[in-house]
Amino acid sequence: MIVQLPGLIDIHVHLREPGATHKEDFLTGSSAAIAGGFTYILDMPNNPIPTFSIEALEQKVSLSKEKARCDIGFHYGTDGNNLDTFPQAWNDSAVFGLKIYCNETTGKYVVTEEELLDRIFAAWRSLKPILVHAEGNMLPKMLFLARKHQRRIHVCHVATAEDVQIIQKEKAIYDQITCGVCPHHLFLTTDDESRLSGFFRVKPPIGNQDDQDALWEGIHDGTIDIVESDHAPHTKEEKTVAEPAYGMPGLETTLGLLLRAVHDKRLPMKIVLALLYDRPKRIFSVPDQKDTYVTCDPDEPYRIGEDGYFTKCQWSPFDGWEAYGKVRRVVFRGATIYQDGRFLI
Ligand code: DOR
Ligand code: ZN
Repeated sequence: MIVQLPGLIDIHVHLREPGATHKEDFLTGSSAAIAGGFTYILDMPNNPIPTFSIEALEQKVSLSKEKARCDIGFHYGTDGNNLDTFPQAWNDSAVFGLKIYCNETTGKYVVTEEELLDRIFAAWRSLKPILVHAEGNMLPKMLFLARKHQRRIHVCHVATAEDVQIIQKEKAIYDQITCGVCPHHLFLTTDDESRLSGFFRVKPPIGNQDDQDALWEGIHDGTIDIVESDHAPHTKEEKTVAEPAYGMPGLETTLGLLLRAVHDKRLPMKIVLALLYDRPKRIFSVPDQKDTYVTCDPDEPYRIGEDGYFTKCQWSPFDGWEAYGKVRRVVFRGATIYQDGRFLI
């Protein structure tokens, strides 16, 4: 049976424009979003020229307005040298949060120095959340700083059983914490590494079965608030060299994988909607999108990648997997813009 869903929200994508448009750009990335059922996405700051200045932010806003097929918001970023620009950033309606990288990943904009992190948390005097990439011992440090400065914190891509446990404990004493999990951490384990080789490489790394089990439990007990794709496209060439780039695409596969979990009775449909719409909307104050919705048949199986991809990178770690509920139609502000695999505009 065909059902109607709200236009979904992905708060964590890397659309690569400007500066790395050989991997993705606002047109291809937003097309992948629409084909995957997402009509509002939030883009990360780790471009070659990072979104650490108002000029870089304005450039992204204008390029996206020109080219994108869906609504796009932005997370501002910091290396600790742009604190004076924070008020202008958080007052900008295109900005939804501040992203801090505490561990090495694409772009290498890492901040680990505690005194500097403390100043960053002090300076972000906004209700818009601080998003952290915090693996290992950086996670407790960031949770501590959020509570110390009474800031809202969103922990991106929780990937280990230990992280789930730490967040669960901290949530019991401080209620301004939210967190997200990625589909690749929910559906892949270290057992997939030899098969996927460089395409498996992502930050945070994919864990073992115990980690994956803890993530699913975290979804069911409410420790995990949202699913974020961390759509991080790299070319096939960049994934097959000696030191492959970190990251994998996710916008076109997230919904189908979660609807497969619904089909397998591992997840109720209403939790899928909480993870991909209600909670991201509430946590990041994403505006309403009038006359915008998506249709699909959640009982209908399909093969991931059977009709190709809209993402410029043209691959997925889930290529050939059975998923459910391929997006049939997307209505965006009253107009059907996508139907049965094709864009109508
Ligand atoms: O694997 C990753 N890729 N993790 C990140 O945090 C960044 C992303 C990217 O931008 O490629
Ligand atoms: Zn990311």
